[in-house]
Amino acid sequence: MTEATIRWISGPVMRARSTGRFHLSEAVLVGERELPGEIIRVDTEGIVAQIYEDTTGLKPGDRVSGTGQRLSIRLRPGLLGNIFDGLLRSLTDMPGDTVRPGTRSAEAAMLKFLPTLRPGDQLAPGMAFGDFDKGHIAEKFLPPPGISGTVRSIVAAGEYRDDETLCVIEDADGVEIPLSAGHAWPVRVPRPVRRRLPPGEPLVTGQRIMDTLFPLARGGRAALPGGFGTGKTILQESLAKWCDADVIVYVGCGERGNEMAEVLNEFPTLEDPRSGRPLLDRTVIIANTSNMPVAAREASIYTGITLAEYFRDQGLHVALMADSTTRWAEALREISGRLGELPGEYGFPAYLSSRLAEFYERAAHVETLAGGQGSVTIIGAVSPPAGDFSEPVTTQSKRYVRCFWALDRDRAQARFFPAIHPLTSYSEDVDALAHWWQSKGNPDWTSHRRQILTLLEQRARLERMARIVGKDALPPKQQLTLLCADLVNESLLRQSAFSIVDRFCSPERQTALLRAILHFVHRAEQSLEGGIALADIAAMPVLRQLQRASEEIPDDKLERFRMLMRRQDDEFDQLARGHAHAR
Ligand SMILES: Nc1ncnc2c1ncn2[C@@H]1O[C@H](COP(=O)(O)OP(=O)(O)OP(=O)(O)O)[C@@H](O)[C@H]1O
Ligand SMILES: [Mg+2]
Repeated sequence: MTEATIRWISGPVMRARSTGRFHLSEAVLVGERELPGEIIRVDTEGIVAQIYEDTTGLKPGDRVSGTGQRLSIRLRPGLLGNIFDGLLRSLTDMPGDTVRPGTRSAEAAMLKFLPTLRPGDQLAPGMAFGDFDKGHIAEKFLPPPGISGTVRSIVAAGEYRDDETLCVIEDADGVEIPLSAGHAWPVRVPRPVRRRLPPGEPLVTGQRIMDTLFPLARGGRAALPGGFGTGKTILQESLAKWCDADVIVYVGCGERGNEMAEVLNEFPTLEDPRSGRPLLDRTVIIANTSNMPVAAREASIYTGITLAEYFRDQGLHVALMADSTTRWAEALREISGRLGELPGEYGFPAYLSSRLAEFYERAAHVETLAGGQGSVTIIGAVSPPAGDFSEPVTTQSKRYVRCFWALDRDRAQARFFPAIHPLTSYSEDVDALAHWWQSKGNPDWTSHRRQILTLLEQRARLERMARIVGKDALPPKQQLTLLCADLVNESLLRQSAFSIVDRFCSPERQTALLRAILHFVHRAEQSLEGGIALADIAAMPVLRQLQRASEEIPDDKLERFRMLMRRQDDEFDQLARGHAHAR
């Protein structure tokens, strides 16, 4: 075993003198307690490593030993429904957990295995050799990527330990390869796929402003930037709860411990609206709160994405939420600072941008090695200090994401949630997803979306004008625009995460609401042109009903939207008759 001796230590980083051969990114064990670490620099004098545990008590002269392997996590069925730290060590059965990176086997529970191949069958690359018999998500037993050959033997259905040989493969060279339930994978290396596929369908979030105005494709990447208290965590949690992914990987990265505790307490009590099962069954939580070691926070993002890719390789659609990428970047900054590296903008290291790129590039909609389809969608929260979007983590993230959901301080202060600003946010996936919306019963989605955005743009302009001349001085047509834009805001864009009816809005309900609103806009404009007074339009009872529609009409009562359209027609017709009569 290669060994080195510590000669300098500062927080989570240390230098050690070595005579042996270490390599970059190699996992190491440090000191008597064998703390896990990773080599981040090698030079003629020795190595520099970051350590994933509290380093109190370590001192010069302590020993560092190499493992010969890169920092890896052990992937296997049965990880769903659990809570781990940044190195995939169980937090469910802490404390006293002594599992080390890449060697979880000693602690793993018995796994229920159902063979899906027989002796003599061919195992193609990426193909599963068994099903995991538990839970409602179809987890599979996967060989390490790249392994293929003929099945020589395979165990019968039953319960096995993680490290037991379940299947023996003979490869093309006649070499026998034993396969067990899990395999180690280095977290910083993307798992291979057959090919990447273009975006084609959305990740339905159930949040109207996201799905209808700024949709995110499955396999896409989104940033959710927002200053203090603007609703990042609540939105990330809403997405984790209600978005239509098969599997959720939730990385709580450097956030306050009590916030994370809330998530941990709440999740097990929630029910998946589609399956009726506990939501935690389809979720893995990686928790690395602000009081946990900073280097493990740096690793947690990679652990999360590796786990997400592992589920993707089983033909599943995965959504990864990272809250927050800023805290992760701060971990990079702290480590870099301790090493005395030349700081860049705001003290972040120069490689911040390439690290963000590497992370977001692992999001993809793919054809798996086995020929199935799967995806990893990334949604990264960003917490810019003082809500300043010109700081490096926000601007660099913007370069790599396709969806930008900008949380607005003024909206949040006015308790308008979600506080996503419709004029500073964008989605580059709109064109790719129009077809999907059209196939979901809204052939006019593109034009409806455009009309809504135009109304909101006009509102911003008119409000500036109204501040100068006063709202009442605007011509009635412009006042109507303001009225309609308010309706859009209140009814379409406002959506409480705490409302039982409205915390999730199906695409069908989004379409019905959108239609009802635009019908009102259209008829109101016609009526105004026909001579009806703006005050009469503003006083229509149906307008009140429309404003409350998203809160009051649940997903299983969509026919009430049709009634709402009819009522609009009745009231507008009545106004027209009254007007004709008066003349
Ligand atoms: N979608 C929402 N629906 C209803 N209320 C919300 C919503 N989003 C945020 N809020 C309210 O705003 C508060 C702050 O939200 P949250 O904790 O998510 O902000 P944050 O951006 O994560 O803050 P921090 O910067 O501290 O991490 C919540 O406690 C809640 O009262
Ligand atoms: Mg938060």
